[in-house]
Amino acid sequence: MKTVIVYYSKTGFTRKYANWLADALECPAIPLHEVRPEDLEPAQIVIFASWFHAGNIQKLSWFKEQKLGDKKRAVLATGATPGESALIKEALDNNFKTDKADYALFYAQSGLNYEKMALGDKLMMKVFASMMRKKKDKSVDEEEMCRMIGDSFDGCRREYLEPVIRWVKSFGA
Ligand SMILES: Cc1cc2nc3c(=O)[nH]c(=O)nc-3n(C[C@H](O)[C@H](O)[C@H](O)COP(=O)(O)O)c2cc1C
Repeated sequence: MKTVIVYYSKTGFTRKYANWLADALECPAIPLHEVRPEDLEPAQIVIFASWFHAGNIQKLSWFKEQKLGDKKRAVLATGATPGESALIKEALDNNFKTDKADYALFYAQSGLNYEKMALGDKLMMKVFASMMRKKKDKSVDEEEMCRMIGDSFDGCRREYLEPVIRWVKSFGA
């Protein structure tokens, strides 16, 4: 089945995942600002990859607005949170309150890149990191988050894409 990946990325982690996925699936990965309706038209499977920003998957509303008919749709969200954290399911549920059944949902931990972040985002992360450091009685997840978010890190791993690849291949693609 013909597959297309559309991605939205600011600091490069989601782009890296989209390109790895495109390699594995031998399909195009197109940045959101370049995608045209005729790129999506011939595909039977459309994967949208984007990143969590304060719990919201960026540009998800764009993807939800696309008229995709009976095409299979998946969303791959990336973020700094470790994939095994319970926060991920909660965050995905919040982004798909009424329409979860229409999408296959995947998450891949990425990282943080303070050097490439927009100024507003950098400030937001610094305030968040400082609030987390000061918070008393942190949960295990919060302790882990606190340890990670102070500095840039790259936690991307190709193997985090295996569930997405298995899902696409389950259609014989
Ligand atoms: C302002 C801001 C808010 C963020 N919020 C979250 C979040 O809620 N959950 C999370 O896991 N990661 C969060 N992140 C981390 C990004 O999702 C992560 O760095 C992402 O991979 C960036 O994607 P990109 O490199 O493709 O632009 C946030 C990053 C920034 C800068």
